[in-house]
Amino acid sequence: MADTPATGENRIEGLYRWLDERAGLTTIWKTVFARAVPKTNWFYTLGSASMVLVMLQGITGMLLTIYYVPSPDKAYDSINFIMNQVAFGWLIRGIHHWGATLMVIVVFLHMLKAFFVGAYKYPREITWLTGAALLLIVMVMGFSGYLLPWNQKAYWATTVGTNIAGAVPVVGPLLLPILRGSQDIGALTLARFYGLHIWWMPLALLGLMMVHLYLIIRIGITAPPERNE
Ligand code: HEM
Repeated sequence: MADTPATGENRIEGLYRWLDERAGLTTIWKTVFARAVPKTNWFYTLGSASMVLVMLQGITGMLLTIYYVPSPDKAYDSINFIMNQVAFGWLIRGIHHWGATLMVIVVFLHMLKAFFVGAYKYPREITWLTGAALLLIVMVMGFSGYLLPWNQKAYWATTVGTNIAGAVPVVGPLLLPILRGSQDIGALTLARFYGLHIWWMPLALLGLMMVHLYLIIRIGITAPPERNE
C-alpha cells in the first residue's frame, strides 16, 4: 500500500488515525481489552464464556423468529417446519436448545468461581448483585422458552411451573393469572412468554450485562488466592 508523502502512513493507518481522533478507538482498546489483569486460571474464563453463549443464543434466537409463529394453532407446526424443511433449521434450533442448557450450567459455574474467590466482598458487591439478577434472568429465559414449541412437554412443564408460583403463600393466587394471562394456559400465556423471551428478558439481560462489565473494567478482577494465603 502506498504511503502518503506528508505523514508516511498508509491508507489503513490514515483511516485509523482519522477514526481514532474522532471516536477515541485507542482509549476504548486500552480501557476494555489491554487492561492489566492478575495471573489467573481457566475458571476466570467462565464469565467470558457466559457472554459468548449470550451472543450465540441471541443470534440463533433471532434466526428462529424468521419462521417461528407464537400462536397455539401454529407454534408446533412452525417448529416442525424449522426442523424438517428449513435449510439448517435443525442445526439452528439444536444450538439454541442445547445452548440454553449450557448457559445455565456455565453461568452457575461462573457464580461458584466468584463465590470461591470471595469476589462478592467489597468492592464488588454490585458486580455480585447484578450477577445474581443475571442468573435469575437466564432462568426466566429458559422457563419462558420451554413453552414456545407448544408440545405436550412444554404445556405440562408450564402447568407445573406456574402452579408452583401459584402455591406461594399470599401472593400466589395473584401471581398465577398474571403469569398465565388467565386461569388456564392458552394463547395469552404463549404471547406473554414469547414477549418475555424475546423482549423483556433480553433487554434486561443486555442492560445488566453492561453494568456488570462496566464494574469489572472499573474495579478489575480478583487475583486467585495464593497457596500460603
Ligand atoms: C449472563 C450472565 C453473566 C455474564 C455474561 C457474566 C460476565 C462476566 C465477565 C465477563 C466477568 C469477568 C471475567 C471473569 O471473572 O469471569 C465477570 C466477573 C464477575 N461476575 Fe459475572 N457474568 C454473569 C453472571 C454472573 C453471576 C450469576 C454472578 C454471581 C451471582 C456473577 C458475579 C460476578 C463477579 C462477582 C465477578 C467478578 C469476579 C472477580 O473479580 O474475580 N456473574 N462476569
